[in-house]
Amino acid sequence: MPGRNNTWRFLFLTMITIQDAQEDDLLQILDLQSRNLKINLTPEEAQSEGFVTLIHSLELLQKMNHPFAHTIAKDGNKVIGYALTLLSDVKSDISELNALYEAISDVDNFVVMGQVCIEKSYRGRGVFRSMYERMNQKFTGSFDYIITEVSESNRRSLEAHYAIGFSDLRIRPGWRIIWKEIDKSQ
Ligand SMILES: CC(C)(COP(=O)(O)OP(=O)(O)OC[C@H]1O[C@@H](n2cnc3c(N)ncnc32)[C@H](O)[C@@H]1OP(=O)(O)O)[C@@H](O)C(=O)NCCC(=O)NCCS
Repeated sequence: MPGRNNTWRFLFLTMITIQDAQEDDLLQILDLQSRNLKINLTPEEAQSEGFVTLIHSLELLQKMNHPFAHTIAKDGNKVIGYALTLLSDVKSDISELNALYEAISDVDNFVVMGQVCIEKSYRGRGVFRSMYERMNQKFTGSFDYIITEVSESNRRSLEAHYAIGFSDLRIRPGWRIIWKEIDKSQ
């Protein structure tokens, strides 16, 4: 029997669908990204709620959306969460990620979760976990690990990632590179 919290989580999630991003979802991803950039938040909000750092162009998001689409959460037609797919063939388009790729050059067969963000009013309700489970399914058979990089100062994001099973892979100044093995039994 699910506990009370899980029951409420289930009820909440029945309004929300987790799916692959289509072309016409990408502008909404960029809007959510923009509203959660560190530079657009107060220092207090960035500390308590988390923040994103990298800005993507529409063209880059389109390129990254193939062959494995970004994972999104929608409430009706509204995108309320996203987790970006980033394959190595796009890394030359994002110079800010050079240090990440250098630090993991000895790791094989991984996919990078390029950035994750959930609309503020939908946080703390299992949307992140559900998006992660969708990614796990999508990448099973193609990759062995999901890797991402989180700012040391983004405690909310670090704790959320650790809670769903990520662990430290490398630490570089100001950043933690974390990973999780794809669970092929799911
Ligand atoms: C980071 C972010 C995606 C996490 O999503 P979220 O909905 O806030 O995550 P939750 O609060 O549901 O936490 C997910 C899990 O982490 C756990 N968790 C969260 N904060 C925790 C803490 N301080 N200590 C221990 N566990 C914690 C939750 O209990 C939950 O676990 P559960 O599913 O077993 O209950 C979201 O806060 C966000 O989009 N923030 C703004 C942008 C951002 O920071 N993106 C990340 C960039 S790297």
